[in-house]
Order: sequence, then C-alpha cells, then structure tokens
Amino acid sequence: MTYSCLRCIECGREYLLSDIRFTCTCGNLLDVSHDWQSVRASFDLSREQFGEHSAMLNGQPAGGVWRFRNMVLPGFPDEAIVSKQEGNTRLYRSKKVSLWTGCRNLFLKHEGENPTGSFKDRGMTAAVTQARALGQRAVTCASTGNTSASLAAYASEAEIAGLVLIPKGNVAVGKISQALAYGTKTLVVDGDFDDCMRLIREAQERLGAYPLNSINPFRLEGQKTIVWEALLQLRWRVPDWFVFPGGNLGNTSAFGKALHEAVELGWIDKMPRFAVIQAQGASPFYEAFKNGFSTLRPQKADTIATAIKIGNPVNYSKAVRSLRWTNGIVESVTDEEILEAKAHVDAAGIGAEPASCATVAGLKKLVTAGIIDEGETVVGILTGNILKDPQSIVDYHFAKTHPLANPPVEIRAEIGDVEKILSERTER
Ligand code: F0G
Repeated sequence: MTYSCLRCIECGREYLLSDIRFTCTCGNLLDVSHDWQSVRASFDLSREQFGEHSAMLNGQPAGGVWRFRNMVLPGFPDEAIVSKQEGNTRLYRSKKVSLWTGCRNLFLKHEGENPTGSFKDRGMTAAVTQARALGQRAVTCASTGNTSASLAAYASEAEIAGLVLIPKGNVAVGKISQALAYGTKTLVVDGDFDDCMRLIREAQERLGAYPLNSINPFRLEGQKTIVWEALLQLRWRVPDWFVFPGGNLGNTSAFGKALHEAVELGWIDKMPRFAVIQAQGASPFYEAFKNGFSTLRPQKADTIATAIKIGNPVNYSKAVRSLRWTNGIVESVTDEEILEAKAHVDAAGIGAEPASCATVAGLKKLVTAGIIDEGETVVGILTGNILKDPQSIVDYHFAKTHPLANPPVEIRAEIGDVEKILSERTER
C-alpha cells in the first residue's frame, strides 16, 4: 500500500517515495505528500487517539515524533524506524522571561532537550529511517553544527557511514565535539555554510551521496511534530503566534506544512501566525519579506549566532508558502539583542544557545512595537541546548561590560572570603 509520494510544491508533478531526488525537473522543491484518504482507511488519524496513551515503538516509548507516525511516514513498519525517542520536549512558562519580553502568555518549547541537544533529531530520525529504507551506504550534510551532531549520532545508530562538512572557524565547540565523538568523518571547509551546502548538492549529483540537510523533505516530516506536539500540550488550543529563528528555513517550511495538515486532518480550525526571526547579519528572508517576496538576494552572512549564519536558505520557496498560509511576518534582531535575550533566558534557569534566543529577542521587539499584543498567546521555540555553545557564555560573563554579566570571583581558601561574598549577595 502506498500512502505517500514526492510532490513538487510548484507544478505538482509527482515522484515515487523511493526516488532519490530533492527537486523537481522544473527546479522547485519537493514535499513528501500524503494521501490522507488512503491513510485514514488504514489508521486512526483523529486527534483523540493521542490522549493519555503512550504509544510504543519497538518496546520503547515512541517519543514525540513516532507517536505521530501515521502522519510522518505512514505504513513504515516499527523495525524500519531509527529512533532515539526524540521529542516530548518541555513547554516552559517563565515569569522572568514573560516580564522581560512583555508577553504574558508565553510558552517556551525547548527543542534543546532532544537526544543530541537540538530540534534536528526530530528530522534526522525520519530522514535516516528513509536513508536506510533506500539502502543508502553513506549520508552527508553541510552544517553550522547541530545537523552534523545529529547526523553523526543517527548514522552511528543506523550503521551508515556519515560525512559532514562544516565551515572553518564557525561551529560552536559543543557541536563539533559531538560530530567527532559519535564517529562521523568531519571535513572542515575553508568557506562558509553556503559553500558547504553547494558542495553537498554537488556531491549528491556527482557522487550519489545522500544528503540529510533540510532540503531532504523527510527531515521536514519529522520536524512537523514540533508544532503538533505543542498543540497537543496546549490541548489543541491554537496559540496566536509561533515565534522561532530562521536560518536555512527548514523549520519555517515544516511548521507551515504541519499546520496546513492539522487543518486538513480536522485537528484545528484556525491558523496561528508565524513570526520568523533572523539575525541582522544573516537576514535574506527578512529582506525578501520586506520586498513582498519578489526576490531572494543571497547575502554574505555574519552573526554571533553561528547556527543561523546562512546567507542563501535552501528552503526559501517552502518558507514563503508557510508565511502565506499563516499570515506570517519576519523580523530581524542584532547580535547585541540576541546576547541580551540569551542572558535573560539563561538567567531564568532555562538556557539555550544564541540562535535559539533570537526567538526571545524578536518576541520582545515585536511586543514593544505592538505587533504582538502583550496578552496574546505565544509559543516560542528554543531550538538548541545551552551547552552547545559554552564559549559564547564565557565571553559574555567574563566581559563585565554586559548588563547581566556574572563573572566568577577568585578567593583564598578561607571561610572569611566565602562569608564576605555571601553577605554581599544576600544584602542585594
Ligand atoms: N536554531 C538552531 C540551534 C539551529 O541549529 C538552526 C539551524 C536553526 C535555528 C535554523 O533552523 O535552518 O530550520 O531555519 N542549523 C542548521 C545546522 C543549519 O546545520 O545545524 P532552520
């Protein structure tokens, strides 16, 4: 039984799910497209089935991706799935972050709580499952760090050779450490992320290497579950906004598809709005938004938030579709605004890597501008774990000039010194 195919988002041309291709003959991107009528004939697609019951996968809790298996890769047998129980991430409420942003009804969904510390695992479980189903011997990606960490872990689990390309000097230490530790071959490219991405596309065409970047539509099928899981956690009460960072625009694309399908499946009856936040130095999507999406002008990207240091996003056309579906907007924030937001997210005891905190910086900017009302319900996505980029934390807190800097204090090995600091702290 075939439930799904690959379908061009522009001309609608269809291909078999087993075709190894990421673009149509017309040059546009492909979706994994599901025939809900035939899926529904075999599986319960009602939202009630999610309820309290904890779905199982190969004797383990299914996690937050495969609980939605019939809407991600319908018909795949359990044994075919390469999973580490991704998802089931927390939806935090924080008085401190609410107060700072001015957003009273804020929920922060922390995708840094995934197995390798970022949302990428949600997409990787689906794409590596497909890679194995296709009998691929090697998987590749270009990465600003998190994709390479995730690919490395899942390729190891699936026993497929992995090769990752990362831009020299622009990947945070936590992420590169993971790629090395999980045993994938890591190539440090003398170029930027967009150069790495170009090489990956060439490697696919010339060498037949299977890419696991978000141009691979199976990645986006897994990432859809971020939004579905948030809706489930909110008991299907649709928030007014989803706010999240945009780099290669995979999440923007996946989240739009998730909501579009949630309407098709009758899970929700209205669309929330999207606010995609880019770093000012890496903001081609923001610039395109300002010109009504008439053109995408690639940029030479530069930002402290290395995860989103991307100047030529591969998912641009899918992301534009998502913004049209959700009456969405794009905002940009400076590196200083990202660092300040990060200091607040961290000091609230939640913590996230810099790119994630673009979400919170953008939210504050949009509430201040009156575009997001302070009483509206907002789900903000934190995309990566605080420990991914420890250097950015050390740099911030050792430079005493920052407003929330909390540098360590050296003392003699004497109780009097401890007492002095303790009394200063409690007097404040
Ligand atoms: N946040 C984090 C922590 C990321 O690692 C990325 C992308 C994004 C946001 C942007 O998401 O591409 O879906 O718009 N990181 C990729 C990587 C590019 O290689 O790890 P997007």
